[in-house]
Amino acid sequence: MADFDTLFAAASAARAKAHAPYSNYAVGAALLADDGNIYAGCNVENAAFPEGWCAETTAIGHLVMGGAKRIVRAVVVASRIDVERVPGGRFCTPCGGCRQRLSEFAASPSTEIWAADPDGASQRFTMAELLPAGFVLEE
Ligand code: THU
Repeated sequence: MADFDTLFAAASAARAKAHAPYSNYAVGAALLADDGNIYAGCNVENAAFPEGWCAETTAIGHLVMGGAKRIVRAVVVASRIDVERVPGGRFCTPCGGCRQRLSEFAASPSTEIWAADPDGASQRFTMAELLPAGFVLEE
């Protein structure tokens, strides 16, 4: 199973491709899938701001098109966000919509989603921690 370092490298390479001229906030995501492959993605912004989408969403599209079914582990890489209450800054965690999208494909509630900064410092979450009681139509 691909370890953190391998996924971090893939997410960082994806982040380098971010199309984020409006926010200047580049994000990369890498998903280890149940087929053993890594699917990566970057955020893709648009001049019509709400039409842009997140790195996780790009990566999920690649996973589906690659024929994989489940996310086994994920790493998201972006700069830390300056907030007063967190010394050193807050890691970039998936937005609400992406939590729901990740949940659709996560192998289990304990699937690891790592939030990392560009230097490789990271914080580990489980899918259930990021999205408790998420919406489902079937299980
Ligand atoms: N963004 C992501 O790609 N993933 C996240 O987890 C959080 C936010 C993007 C969306 C937008 O292009 C930029 O970061 C600033 O919000």
